[in-house]
Amino acid sequence: MKVLFATPNRSLMDALTVLVPSQRELSIAYNSSEATKALKQKDGEFDFIVVDEETFLGNFPWEWMPLLRDHSQVSQIIVILSEKTDSVYAEIIKRLAVDLKISLIAPGLTKEEVAGEVNLRVYKQAKKEIEKKGRLITVFSSSSKDGATTVALSTAMAIAKGTSKKVGLLDLNLKSPELRDFMGVKGEKGLPLIQADMDAKLLEPETLLKACEQVSSVKNLFVLTGLVRREWAEKISVSEIAFLLQVARETFDIVFVDVHSFPDNAATVRSLLDADERWVVVSPSVASYQSSWHDWYNSVFMHYGLSHDDFKVIINRDSKELASVNEIERSMGVKVFAQVSHVGQEKGIKSLNFGEPMFISKEDEYAPFKNEINKIAQQVSQNMGITEFEVTGKKGKVKGRGLVASMFPFLIVK
Ligand SMILES: Nc1ncnc2c1ncn2[C@@H]1O[C@H](COP(=O)(O)OP(=O)(O)OP(=O)(O)O)[C@@H](O)[C@H]1O
Ligand SMILES: [Mg+2]
Repeated sequence: MKVLFATPNRSLMDALTVLVPSQRELSIAYNSSEATKALKQKDGEFDFIVVDEETFLGNFPWEWMPLLRDHSQVSQIIVILSEKTDSVYAEIIKRLAVDLKISLIAPGLTKEEVAGEVNLRVYKQAKKEIEKKGRLITVFSSSSKDGATTVALSTAMAIAKGTSKKVGLLDLNLKSPELRDFMGVKGEKGLPLIQADMDAKLLEPETLLKACEQVSSVKNLFVLTGLVRREWAEKISVSEIAFLLQVARETFDIVFVDVHSFPDNAATVRSLLDADERWVVVSPSVASYQSSWHDWYNSVFMHYGLSHDDFKVIINRDSKELASVNEIERSMGVKVFAQVSHVGQEKGIKSLNFGEPMFISKEDEYAPFKNEINKIAQQVSQNMGITEFEVTGKKGKVKGRGLVASMFPFLIVK
């Protein structure tokens, strides 16, 4: 196996070279001209090309990145991102990485962490068959903006807060990735960092974890934010998504996947087919629980062999005056699993604009919403045989089913 390492940083180079079992297979470059020379030499192509972005700091990314790929169409290329790059160039690099199938390593890691990432990708590539482990729950809206992201993020937070389980939330809404905004993060991490690894089937749980964002108040929640190139959505293949879902199951105890309501791309379809639970979030509007649901069910879901019983309905912005549970169940032919109340339009937009998830807001108006979400989280935990679920409410800490049910008797979860 032939490997090229390029970095101007001597101590990083030392950390990388100790990984290599045989020095004969290794080429090293400390600057852009040495790297360019190594890439142009004719005696055999590199299997792995690992390049610190700082090697090419004086060059434009649209010049040096294609140069890496021009060396060979089959080499695995990994670029270690630099903290010195301004945000415009950082964005260009991420976009080019998608086109050129280049894996990225997040900026700001220690040399040992970078070496660990490289080791995972280069020297542990013979991947064992992954065991199906964590529970996979795919959440989508019957029609756009019914609240899939809100329900997925809030429930993932509730389970992570209420249990010690490792909870993953993947933004696979490729055409409308909004978890980044909901969480108020800038987007250094996320799906773009691992797209090439998904494609090459080299993704490892440790790499997936490092690509996830975290919220300081919920330590065991890991959120993979979405694509930065929405026009790429339809190019992501079914096998890439299936592989990511498998690795996510291996990484987390529970995986929530937030997908787009239109089942016209691999992410929505594969995530629905592979899921253990499929939650369809509806609003009490005929456009949602009637027209949109029936159109998509009859034209797509049914043909993939999914029956009505394979879905669970969550009514968001619940309003009995607009449509009762019975009406919605009768129309959809699917059982209603839970109801979530409307916090108010402004509050919803505010939480998005300020990147403050409604579930962790301390304001009193959110209490009914949070109680309902906790109830869903508790139900999921019970279904998985997790007995440790805890809710810290105003009246103190409660444990176990009976107490929670007695605290929130007005909540309906079937
Ligand atoms: N129960 C609720 N109370 C108040 N606001 C809400 C509620 N549910 C969702 N919202 C707000 O409504 C908007 C749309 O919600 P969300 O983004 O979760 O929908 P979605 O179905 O994921 O949308 P998309 O179709 O883009 O994926 C957001 O601003 C969100 O904060
Ligand atoms: Mg959404």
